[in-house]
Amino acid sequence: MKKNIDKNRIDELRKMLHKYNYEYYVNDSSLVSDFEFDQLLKELENLENNYPEFSDPNSPTKRVGGEVLKSFKSVEHKYPMLSLSNSYSKEDIIDFDNRIKKIIDTEFSYICELKYDGVAISLIYENGSLLRAVTRGDGQRGEDVTHNIRTISSIPLALRGDFPKYIEVRGEVIFPKPAFEELNKKRQKEGLPLFSNPRNTASGSLKLQDSSEVAKRKLDCFLYSAYFEDNAINVAFDQYMFLNELGFKTPSLKNKFISQVNSIDGIMDFINHWDSSREFLPFEIDGIVIKVNEVDLQKRIGNTSKSPRWAIAYKYQAIQVSTDLQNIVYQVGRTGAVTPVANLSPVEISGTIVKRASVHNADQIEKLDLRVGDFVFVEKGGEIIPKIVGVDFSRRKKNSNKIKFIKYCPECDSELIRDEGEAHHYCLNSMCCPPQIKGKIIHFIGRKQMNIDGIGAETIEQLFEAGIVANIGDLYELKREELLPLERMADKSADNIISGIEKSKETPFNKLLFGLGIRYVGETVAKKLVSYFKNIHAIRNASFDQLCEVDEIGGKIAESIVEYFSNKENNILIDRLISFGLSMEIAESTENKTNVLKDKKIVISGKFQKVSRDELKQLIEKNGGKNSSSVSSNTSLLIAGENIGPAKLKKAKNLEIEIINEQEFLNLINVSQKDTIEKQPIQGELF
Ligand code: IVH
Repeated sequence: MKKNIDKNRIDELRKMLHKYNYEYYVNDSSLVSDFEFDQLLKELENLENNYPEFSDPNSPTKRVGGEVLKSFKSVEHKYPMLSLSNSYSKEDIIDFDNRIKKIIDTEFSYICELKYDGVAISLIYENGSLLRAVTRGDGQRGEDVTHNIRTISSIPLALRGDFPKYIEVRGEVIFPKPAFEELNKKRQKEGLPLFSNPRNTASGSLKLQDSSEVAKRKLDCFLYSAYFEDNAINVAFDQYMFLNELGFKTPSLKNKFISQVNSIDGIMDFINHWDSSREFLPFEIDGIVIKVNEVDLQKRIGNTSKSPRWAIAYKYQAIQVSTDLQNIVYQVGRTGAVTPVANLSPVEISGTIVKRASVHNADQIEKLDLRVGDFVFVEKGGEIIPKIVGVDFSRRKKNSNKIKFIKYCPECDSELIRDEGEAHHYCLNSMCCPPQIKGKIIHFIGRKQMNIDGIGAETIEQLFEAGIVANIGDLYELKREELLPLERMADKSADNIISGIEKSKETPFNKLLFGLGIRYVGETVAKKLVSYFKNIHAIRNASFDQLCEVDEIGGKIAESIVEYFSNKENNILIDRLISFGLSMEIAESTENKTNVLKDKKIVISGKFQKVSRDELKQLIEKNGGKNSSSVSSNTSLLIAGENIGPAKLKKAKNLEIEIINEQEFLNLINVSQKDTIEKQPIQGELF
C-alpha cells in the first residue's frame, strides 16, 4: 500500500520537476523558487533511494551526473548526419537562390537561422523518454554520450504533449559565453592552462568520462531538425513550433533567431542584422543557415552524399584587426605552467580596446613565426583574451629575429621543462617560485578547498610580500599581531581570519587533498583517492601501479602524485599540517568487514548495475581481498560486469579462473559472515 503511494508520489514529483525544469531552462520562467525546487528534488532523491526498483535513467535527479564511463560506445546513425555546404560571399547566396529557383517552379519560402558554433548531437526518444544521445562522428557512426547529455538542463529527458513513439531530434550543443568565461577564469586562478574557445571545449566536455564534471559546465543545446514517422508537418518553421511543444529549446521569432523570408533581400537583411549583432549574443555563431522552408520541396531538391542541396551556410568572417607586437611576456601559474602573452599596441576590436593577446604555447609562436615588431592579425572569439591568428608578412621589418621561447623561469630562473603531451612549458621549482607559492596558498584557501573565511588573494599577496607566510603550513602559525599591521586590516578582520584558519582544521580530507594543489589532482580525483586509500599515509606510500588501480586515475595523474610525494619538502609540509591537527584520513567503517576474500586477487571488468566500480573495489578490500587490474595466473576471481572486455574474459576462461557476476559477488560477501570463499564454491555458466 505504502509502496503504491510512494510510487505515485515519485511519478508526480518527476512530472513536476520536469515541468519546472522546462519552464526555467527553455521558457526562461520560474514557477517555483530555487528553494522549493531543491526541496522537491531532495524528496524525490530520498524516495528513489528507498525504492531502487523504480529507478529511471531519465529522472530529474539524474541531471547532476555521476556516471563514469571509461569509453564511449560507437553507434550507427539511423539517418546519416549530413553537413552543410559553406559559402563566404553574398554572391554564393545569390547562386544558391538561382539554383533552387531552377528546380522549384512553385511558390516557396526560406527559413533563415543562426548557425550555432558547437557540436552536433542526435537525440533519440522512445515513448517520450530520452533513449540515446549520439555525436555526429563521421556522419554514419557517432559516439554514445547519453550520460553526459542528460546533464544539460535544456534537453528534455521526458517529452511533453503529444509525442511520436520514436523521434530523432538533431541540434547543436553549445558552451554559452558567460559559462565559458567563468570556467576559464577559474582555471586562470588555479594556474591551469586556459581552454582556447567555447566550441572545442563543448566538444571536449561531451567526451569527459565523469558526467558530474559535465554537469558543472552549464552547456546548452539548440535544436534544428527532427525525424519521425508520419511527420505531417510540411513547414520547417512549424516543425520548430512542434519541437518547442515537446519541450525542446528552439529559436523563436521573438528573439529574431529565425526568420521566414520570400526573397533574396530577406536573406540579406538577416545576414546583415546578425553580422553586426552577433557579438552581443550570449553564445557563439559562425554564420547563418538558409533552408528551403517547405519539407516536401526539400525532399524534391534532395541531398548530395554529404550535404542537403536545399540548404546552405553563410559563414561570417571572424572579427580581425591588425596591430604591432611590442613584446612577449611569460606568466607563471600556480602549477608552474608558463603561458606566453603578447603585448600589443592598443587597438579596438568590436568595442573593446585590446592590449594583450594570448599565444597559447611555444608551438604556436613557432607555427605563426612571430617576431617582435611584426604587424599581427588579432581575432576576438569567445576567449577571455583575444588571440593572434597570423602575421602580416608584407610589413615585416628587416633584421627581425625569431622569438625564442624562454629557457628559464622569468620569476625564479629555474630551467623550464616542456610537457610533450600538452606542449606547455613548466617551471618545476614549485617550492621557491613566487607566483607558484602564492598561487598554491590562494588555491588552498579557496571555497571548494579549505574554504577559509575572511582571507582572500590580496591578503595572501601581502602576507607573502611581508615574509610572514611562505607556504600553506605557515597559515596555521599566523598570529593576530602579524596581521594587524597589514594595509586595510581591521581588528575584526584579523579575528575572522584567525578563527577561519582554526575552523578549517575540520575540513574533510578530500577537500584538503584537493587544496594541496598536486598537479592533476582536482576535486573529483581527490575524492576518489580518499575513498580508495582512506588516509594520507596510504596515498603517500602508494606505488604508481597501485594509484592506477583507482578508477579514473591514469598514468599522468599517478605519475604526478608519486612525484609530489617523492619531494622531501612536500612530506615535511604534510607532517606539519598533521601536527597542527588537520584531518588527513577518513573514518573507516568496520561495518561488514570480513575476511571472506582473504588473500584473493580479484579483477573486476565491465559495467555494474548495483554498485559502482569504486564501491566494488572497496567491498573487495573490506572483505580481505586485493584488487588487481589484469588477469594473470595469480588471479583468484574475475567479477564480470556488462560489456566486459572480450580479451579479459577469454584469458580468464583459458586460465580457468573463476568468473562470477555482480549479484553473485554480492551474495558471496553476504554469506561471508558464515563461510569463506573456499567453502562456498561459485558455480554456473554465466555467459
Ligand atoms: S541544419 C544536414 N541548422 O552546422 C544538416 N545545422 O556545418 C542540417 N549547425 O552539422 C543541419 N546551426 O551541426 C542546421 N541552425 C542550424 C545549425 C546547424 C549549426 C551545424 C550542424 C551541422 C553543421 C554543418
